[in-house]
Amino acid sequence: MELIEYPDAEMMMMDLADRLASELRTSLSQNPFASLAVPGGTTPGPIFDSLCDTHLDWSRVRVMLTDERWVPEDHPRSNTRLLRQRLLTGRAADAVYVPLYADAPEPEAALDRLGATVTENLPLSVLLLGMGADMHTASIFPGADRLDEALTTEAPLVAMRAPGAPEPRITLSAAVLNGAMSRHLVITGSEKREALERARSLPPHEAPVAAILRGTTVHWAES
Ligand code: 6PG
Repeated sequence: MELIEYPDAEMMMMDLADRLASELRTSLSQNPFASLAVPGGTTPGPIFDSLCDTHLDWSRVRVMLTDERWVPEDHPRSNTRLLRQRLLTGRAADAVYVPLYADAPEPEAALDRLGATVTENLPLSVLLLGMGADMHTASIFPGADRLDEALTTEAPLVAMRAPGAPEPRITLSAAVLNGAMSRHLVITGSEKREALERARSLPPHEAPVAAILRGTTVHWAES
């Protein structure tokens, strides 16, 4: 794991957007298409605001979430909604969106269908992850009902419920996350920084983020 500390979050978000764009360009120069997976939640919005206006051949970029909350796309907590509003807009409106949500009451009903499309777009070229102070990443939560499965399966997607998550979740599996050609984790604040340090010496079933730290670049700013 490499850790990059930034003087402030604004600078970090801009730098990170540039870096993701440059990695996508490199991937597109060598492949017919590139795939990008990004988190939802409250942290990555400013990265999306900058990335969506970047010059690159977005029509050859497949964009997916690392995980989704099982709520309709117009729900305030929908990560898809965030993506449509802040990433799949501007120049990036030409990107192909690979959904992690379908209109079904439970994620299990759509898992195979969504997983088949995800698989067509693997391995991920570029991966950006977030992390919670409880050391979850994507929606691989400590204490989740299918935590072991998410950490060990070769399947692309796992549906799960966790004490720390207010709604059912669907998440890329650890195997898919670790298969990405390039991996970044973005965190802000001292609480998450301390959680990251703790995670480095804990097993993944206690600190799921530990499962993806090897070879990952962590980007941190206080605020
Ligand atoms: C989600 C995410 C999740 C997120 C972390 C951090 O749907 O919640 O994709 O993995 O990255 O929970 O969330 P914040 O950025 O809001 O702290």
